[in-house]
Amino acid sequence: MKHRMLSGIKPTGQLHLGSYIGALRQFVQSQEEYEMVAFIANLHCITVPQEPAELQKNLRDCVALYLACGLDPKKSIIFLQTDVMEHAQLGYIMCCHTYLGELNRMTQFKDKQAKGEANLSGGLYTYPTLMAADILLYEPDYVPVGEDQKQHVELCRDVAIRMNNRYGEIFHVPEPMIPEVGARIMSLTDPTHKMSKSDGLNRGCIYLLDDLKDARKKIMSAKTDSLGIVKYDPENQPGIANLIQIMSSLQDDRPFEDIEKEFEGKGYGDFKRAVADVVCGKLEEIQKRYYEIIDSDLIETTLKDGADRARAIASVTLDRVQRAIGMEIID
Ligand code: AMP
Ligand code: TRP
Repeated sequence: MKHRMLSGIKPTGQLHLGSYIGALRQFVQSQEEYEMVAFIANLHCITVPQEPAELQKNLRDCVALYLACGLDPKKSIIFLQTDVMEHAQLGYIMCCHTYLGELNRMTQFKDKQAKGEANLSGGLYTYPTLMAADILLYEPDYVPVGEDQKQHVELCRDVAIRMNNRYGEIFHVPEPMIPEVGARIMSLTDPTHKMSKSDGLNRGCIYLLDDLKDARKKIMSAKTDSLGIVKYDPENQPGIANLIQIMSSLQDDRPFEDIEKEFEGKGYGDFKRAVADVVCGKLEEIQKRYYEIIDSDLIETTLKDGADRARAIASVTLDRVQRAIGMEIID
């Protein structure tokens, strides 16, 4: 039997090069070898305030981009989280089995809190318990995510193991799968912080739907250093190391040494131009397919079929869990 893999993306904004390299790219590669379950985490989106019209646009874009990047609805199960109610229900059960101490240790929440953002929601705090449900419902073997999500997958494992000890083997316990290259793509303007949609003026973040000229400009003005050597040295040359990672991952994991060799004795200008060519080539390919898909009914048919297939798996898990806990009476 094929191993199963599951992952999701929370499109609170537009997908960017970090989401592509750290996550989506892996989903696409994995669907050949694994049974891939890829969903759009729209329940997670509303853990922070959303503008309804904008959220809806982002969700549609996200499905179109999943498809444009190469996820194939015939091979993978692609669906919207809210179309499978079992997520919210198992999420509640997971929440009841997670300790406050465990949630207090989650760095993503702590970081937000430390920034002093006002009115953080309860949903944001309990987010990892819903994420645990997202995963466990489908009994995957692996969960491909970027580095920032590793801690959440580990919490999922801890709570699942604890519940297995208490109620019997109700959950299959998965492993996180972090890519060797590109698990943490950094901002182009500040290579000590990860590339993210909340990046100030967005000069440091390349969106998959960015105008190609804009994307090129962002790369050409990426922050580097004064050493003038194209060498993978994240400590002393974080900007260059980031560009090397971007180039390598978009060229089928081309070895870093190979890139270093190509640019030996050349300036950063030449190197950045080459990175921009690779990035823009990839964006162009994705955007071409995106524009073919965005107004077609492929989005609706994909989501409908995906939700049916997802529900068939999720309902069996939820039923088993509720029965083991002693919560069900009728069949
Ligand atoms: P998000 O867009 O925050 O829902 O993240 C979707 C997926 O992309 C998750 O697996 C993240 O770990 C991954 N991801 C987000 N930002 C980056 C980044 N800058 N570098 C690598 N992976 C990322
Ligand atoms: N928390 C993930 C993110 O922000 C998205 C996500 C939600 C997810 N549920 C998941 C990822 C389950 C993997 C598995 O990127």
